Amino acid sequence: MDEDIVVLGIESSCDETAAALVTGDRRILAQRIASQEAAHAPYGGVVPEIAARAHAEKLAPLIEAVLAEAGMTLAECDAVAATAGPGLIGGVMVGLVTAKALAMGSDKPLIAINHLEGHALSPRLADPALEYPYALLLVSGGHCQILRVEGVGRYERLATTIDDALGEAFDKTAKILGLGYPGGPAVEQLALEGDPRAVPLPRPLLGSDDPNFSFAGLKSAVLRAAESAKYRSADVAASFQQAAIDCIQDRLGRALEKMDEVGALVVAGGVAANRQVRKSLEDLGAKRGLRFVAPPLELCTDNAAMIAWAGVERLRQGASDPLDIAARPRWPLDPSAEPVRGAGYKA
Ligand code: KG4
Ligand code: ZN
Repeated sequence: MDEDIVVLGIESSCDETAAALVTGDRRILAQRIASQEAAHAPYGGVVPEIAARAHAEKLAPLIEAVLAEAGMTLAECDAVAATAGPGLIGGVMVGLVTAKALAMGSDKPLIAINHLEGHALSPRLADPALEYPYALLLVSGGHCQILRVEGVGRYERLATTIDDALGEAFDKTAKILGLGYPGGPAVEQLALEGDPRAVPLPRPLLGSDDPNFSFAGLKSAVLRAAESAKYRSADVAASFQQAAIDCIQDRLGRALEKMDEVGALVVAGGVAANRQVRKSLEDLGAKRGLRFVAPPLELCTDNAAMIAWAGVERLRQGASDPLDIAARPRWPLDPSAEPVRGAGYKA
């Protein structure tokens, strides 16, 4: 019925500038991502001011490029969807203001997307058979949450991290081991050559009744292990990754016990690109009799196709947003979820 709708998606919440065109029948007509890795690498992390400037420089040419690649004009799109938060506010504003200008100029609806919703719905872009409700482990650089995804805009958060996000722990481990930024893929690579049992590391909150996560203690233990100079870097990387996976398995297992019925176990977000993490979740799903779904690697890390797809799902529900909608540094998926001890500013 609405298979031929096309949504332009824009992403600029962290250090990737991206644009994509996605159709109602799940075709990615074109997508471009400009990574800012090189600009932030000397600082060992994302510098918000540098990120915002880079988004402002790169976004317009990327949008032109995806339209050209698809052989389309803006007039032929059905809506403009952009990340409106949560994220680094300067970058989010660049993307959202651009989307507003395009929507106003072409008289198309603007759809303001929660970046976390982009991740949460991305598995449905890749897998037409994935129906609501599903259990979701959302693991990225800024978030580590377990959600029951009940429908577009309907999320029950069962767990979050009380300190660091999992991607953050991967990035810190990489920094400690001198692997540079961004760290996740580098730690995964080095771990292939290491022994996951070589370094004794803690599994924070393992076995606790609530399913929340904690990674700060693990990170400190990695630092102490590295400083002791007793272990090979590859063994530290492998042992860290194993400890993180043990935590995920335990916490997710606990959350599934508390969760109403779901049809599938799903992972999304940057850390979902980690093959060992995917493998361990596949095992957990098999044990629980749940189908396991993970988006292809390129849809796990930040991209605009997931934002365009969330736009498709929202447009189908008749959603559109006013042109004066504000960018939001924080924007929880489940506003009714209790804040947890130590969660700081995170959504
Ligand atoms: O979703 P994402 O691209 O950005 C945020 O919204 O945060 O996630 C980025 C995070 C980074 O912390 C990065 O190190 C991590 O995902 N990551 C990985 C892998 N690829 C990306 N962590 C572990 N293994 C990977 N292969
Ligand atoms: Zn993200």
